[in-house]
Amino acid sequence: MHIWDSPEFDAHEQVCLFSDERTGLKAIVAIHSTALGTAAGGTRFKPYASNGEAADDALRLSRAMSYKSALAGLPVGGGKAVLVGDPSRLKSRDFLHAYGAFIDRLGGIFSTGEDVGMGMADIDVVSEVTRFVGGTSAGTGDPSIHTAVGVMHGLEAVVAHRFGRADFSGLRFAVQGLGAVGMGVAERLHAAGAELVVADIRPDAVDLAVARFGAEAVAAEDIHRACVDILCPCALGGSVTEEAVDEIRAAAVAGAANNQLASPAAGERLAARGILFAPDYVMNAGGIISGITGGGARRGRGGAAFPPLDESLAVIRQRLLDIFSRAEAEDRTPELIAQHLACELIGRSPQRDSQG
Ligand code: NAI
Repeated sequence: MHIWDSPEFDAHEQVCLFSDERTGLKAIVAIHSTALGTAAGGTRFKPYASNGEAADDALRLSRAMSYKSALAGLPVGGGKAVLVGDPSRLKSRDFLHAYGAFIDRLGGIFSTGEDVGMGMADIDVVSEVTRFVGGTSAGTGDPSIHTAVGVMHGLEAVVAHRFGRADFSGLRFAVQGLGAVGMGVAERLHAAGAELVVADIRPDAVDLAVARFGAEAVAAEDIHRACVDILCPCALGGSVTEEAVDEIRAAAVAGAANNQLASPAAGERLAARGILFAPDYVMNAGGIISGITGGGARRGRGGAAFPPLDESLAVIRQRLLDIFSRAEAEDRTPELIAQHLACELIGRSPQRDSQG
């Protein structure tokens, strides 16, 4: 595995590999930047096709965490942990304790929480052996509610910029993925008077959204071409491929899923088609904002107390409005502007100038 040669390597400060033969634990912790504080980022646990793919994921996701926290105004840096293997086979109390011991050994340079394959109950177990975790049931709790609220702030910015409107009434949204975040977004959009088209690979989630919100259900493979105003990806990353872009009928793409753009070219194609893209790491910052500011135990940049959570989450709306206007003024994509702003904040040069 050649970390330094990986296309995802971006002058990461530190990358640690951990293994524990007894429990089968194989972990990678990537620390992208601590320029603004302790590196914070979730722990992803899933089988990977190769160790290289796992390392690339850790590198890519930790960079996104640096950008996300910097743009959300948080006094933390960016990191991410990846556990390699099948959670249903490997996950046990011993396994999670072994992982927690490794996190503890890092001495606080990295603090973690839940992500794909790791729920709050798992983080509770990890927290039995290290204090360098957030989002436990005794702490700020389930971050997905705050992520959904943050997405709503982001959607307000999109609607204001793209449609010149201050409300959602009568606008049509396609919500792709009705999990912890997507269902919360759908619920709030419905309450705000929006019309919904939804898809999920879980029929029970779709049935619920149809029954509760009067949503129109479409097949998972068709949701991106739904006739809507805004496409809201809330499933897995990479759903906005170059091919998908050509079929999108929405005027904007804005949702919670991490790494929505399958490639920089997909972003460029969205811009070429005049479809507004809201950078995902700005849209989905609500979870980390709640984790860092919600407990009230920490202080912001310069030692100032954090504002109430509602206000902290509303930063997403203003940040996106700033990004959209600067993108328009400079004739560049919002993704590129967001990247430049984040890099300025953490004192780095942007890695991919071509990313659209
Ligand atoms: P989740 O696992 O609860 O929900 C994902 C949903 O997407 C599931 O219902 C799943 O069945 C569905 N899905 C999977 N493949 C699909 C497909 N091809 N088409 C349609 N639906 C599909 O995950 P969660 O927590 O709701 O997160 C959603 C996205 O938001 C993820 O990309 C995650 O990384 C991102 N995110 C979540 C945060 C959180 O606080 N939970 C914070 C920041 C980002």
